[in-house]
Amino acid sequence: MKVGTNTAVVGLQWGDEGKGKIVDLLTADHDYIVRYNGGANAGHTVVVAGKKYALHLIPSGILSPEKNCVIGNGVVVDPEKLLEEIDSLEKRDVMVANNLKISDRAHVVMPYHKEHDAALEQVLSSAAGQMDENLSIGTTKRGIGPAYADKVHRSLAIRMGDLLDADHLRSKLQVICAIRTRELDALGLDTPPLDPAALTRSLLEMGERLKPHIVDTVYTLHEAMDEGKTILFEGANACLLDIDHGTFPYVTSSNCSTLGIPSGTGIPGRHIEQVVGIMKAYTTRVGEGPFPTEELSETGDRIRERGNEYGTTTGRPRRCGWLDLVAVRYSAMICGTTSLACMLLDVLSTFDELKICTAYRLPDGTVTDRFIPDAHRLPMVTPVYETVPGWSEEITDVTNRDDLPPEALHYLDRIETITGLPVDIVSVGPDRAQTVRSVPTAEAIGG
Ligand code: IMP
Repeated sequence: MKVGTNTAVVGLQWGDEGKGKIVDLLTADHDYIVRYNGGANAGHTVVVAGKKYALHLIPSGILSPEKNCVIGNGVVVDPEKLLEEIDSLEKRDVMVANNLKISDRAHVVMPYHKEHDAALEQVLSSAAGQMDENLSIGTTKRGIGPAYADKVHRSLAIRMGDLLDADHLRSKLQVICAIRTRELDALGLDTPPLDPAALTRSLLEMGERLKPHIVDTVYTLHEAMDEGKTILFEGANACLLDIDHGTFPYVTSSNCSTLGIPSGTGIPGRHIEQVVGIMKAYTTRVGEGPFPTEELSETGDRIRERGNEYGTTTGRPRRCGWLDLVAVRYSAMICGTTSLACMLLDVLSTFDELKICTAYRLPDGTVTDRFIPDAHRLPMVTPVYETVPGWSEEITDVTNRDDLPPEALHYLDRIETITGLPVDIVSVGPDRAQTVRSVPTAEAIGG
């Protein structure tokens, strides 16, 4: 990995790969840490000096006071959640001041978006009992889909900059509240009509607090690059949840692959010089949708327990299974990945043998190494596995790649050969120190 360049960190599976830890590690090598997609549906857990921080909207770079954090225009911001996050960081003596900038063009997740998200999921899952298809997505109920839908619809959308313009916000919410009340009624929500005056008041109050942070972040970032500063783009969610390239419709509503960076920040793609693809040593997924290597067995349970695979955002148990390299290779291709970080390798200790999916068998018996980003066709494939030996010892204290058991080195070697990418980082535990790196950081080399 190169130091002194703009870098993107992106998840190559269905999320929760441990991007937060790698962003935190690579933060030392960059000046600006930028979120470009998603909203409070993402959850990054970072452990620094034994202290655990769970972040949803603010880039984890906030934990390093000399860095600048930016929430780009492609993010959907729930101001209530954002303020909660700021308050809880400040309570723990983490400074949130001039070091956090929020795009005035980022769209706002409104309370009615969250109600709509939850109500629609409820209606769809209840209907599933009577119909052949279950159309619910298993969303995080954070209002993400409805907020992005409003952005695309345009007329009823609210952006962060609107929170600073009282008259405009007041008159817009008069119309929006009347329409949204009818829509929520239609979804069977028996709630009182939305009150535009109360909503305006609460948004303006939140806008007042967030005002020092709300700017045109496109200029912030371009000016920073002109001064020779480097940017770390922090992907939220993951490539297989990308609205265009993931397992649609069981995806989130943004471009969470690196393809979302240019539109979500205003930085052209040619400025992204390296892309670190984050993958777990196995696979997990939350919510609905196809998952070819899922283990609905003692193996899946064992991975879940060893890996503590429960959602940061919703607490839901994650679905677990073997490593799917067909999926990883596809995501790596879409994201322009230049190196890999293999997370949670320690979770695989104590298994006698491990399986790696290298191809899919189609219903007609043919074998393909292509991923199928289509939720109706993907469930028809059967994984083709390579079985490799496991290792018995715990590896959570290993910091040198050569000290890993030979079977773990072989496992990493298979990942590198099959994907054609170097595994530059191996994570063997949640703490910063529990990391095996092939390339030193700028900090380590005195940069
Ligand atoms: P939404 O983003 O809340 O609309 O949820 C859509 C789908 O994406 C659901 O299956 C969620 O569980 C999944 N999802 C969204 N964000 C994440 C994430 O950060 N990690 C894992 N899954 C996610």
